[in-house]
Amino acid sequence: MKFKITLITMLSLLLVLAMGSMALAETYVVGTSAGFPPFEYVENGQIVGFDVDLIKAIGETQGFDVEVKDMSFDSLIAGVKTGNLDIIAAGMTITDQREKAVDFSEPYYSADQSIIVKEGSDNDLTVLFGDHDIGVQTGTTGDIWVTDNLSKKGILKGRVVHYEVFVMAVNDLMNENLDAVVLDSPVAARYAELKPVTVVGKVVTGEQYGLAVNEGNTELLNKINAGLKEVIDSGKMNELLAKYFQ
Ligand code: ARG
Repeated sequence: MKFKITLITMLSLLLVLAMGSMALAETYVVGTSAGFPPFEYVENGQIVGFDVDLIKAIGETQGFDVEVKDMSFDSLIAGVKTGNLDIIAAGMTITDQREKAVDFSEPYYSADQSIIVKEGSDNDLTVLFGDHDIGVQTGTTGDIWVTDNLSKKGILKGRVVHYEVFVMAVNDLMNENLDAVVLDSPVAARYAELKPVTVVGKVVTGEQYGLAVNEGNTELLNKINAGLKEVIDSGKMNELLAKYFQ
C-alpha cells in the first residue's frame, strides 16, 4: 500500500513536472526568407542573422522557444494565415495592405530602397528609366515600388524580373543578365560589402520593419511587444545592432 501511494505520488509529480516544462518551453514556428543579409542568411547550413537573434532574444524574455523555417518571401503571410507559421521575422515592412491580413509588432528597424548595379558598370541612377531590366524579390516593397512607379507608368521600358531570393537576383546582376536590382537599403549596403556590386542611389520610402502574427492573435502579439521592449531596455538590442551592423 505504502509503495503504491509513493508510486502514484511520484508519477503525478512527474506529470506535473512534464506539463510544467511543456508550458515553459512553448515553441513557436517562425517564418523567414534567407538571402537578406544581415537580417537572415544561411551560414554553414544554418539560418542566422539579426532577425533570428532578435526573435530568440524576445522568446527568452517571454519563455518561448522558436523553430525557424526558411521560405519564399511571398508565402510568409499565407503561412501565418494557414497556421503553418506563428510568427514572421523577415525584415517585413509594415504596410496598410499587409495590416489587413496580419498584425504587426512595434517597429524595430527603418529602411529605404536602394538601387545596386554591377561594380564598374556605367549604370547610375538613370538605370531606372528606359530600356533596362530591373531585378526585384517577388512581393517585396521594392517589387511594388518598381512595378507601380516605374513599370506601369512606362518610365521603365525594360523588364521587371522577379526572384524568389535576392541571392539569385544579385547573381544575375553580376552575370550581366540584369542592369540593376532594387532592394532594402541596409541589405543593399551589406551586398555591396560582400559582392562586386555598388549602390548608385536610394529611394526614400521611409519603411519600418515589424514582426508579424496572424490577425487577432493578440496574446502572442502582446508577448512579442513586451519582449521587444525588454530587449531594447536591457541593452540586448544595442548588442545585436552592434553584432550585425558594424
Ligand atoms: N522590407 C521589404 C518588404 O517588406 C523586403 C523584405 C524582404 N525580406 C526578406 N527576408 N527577404 O517587402
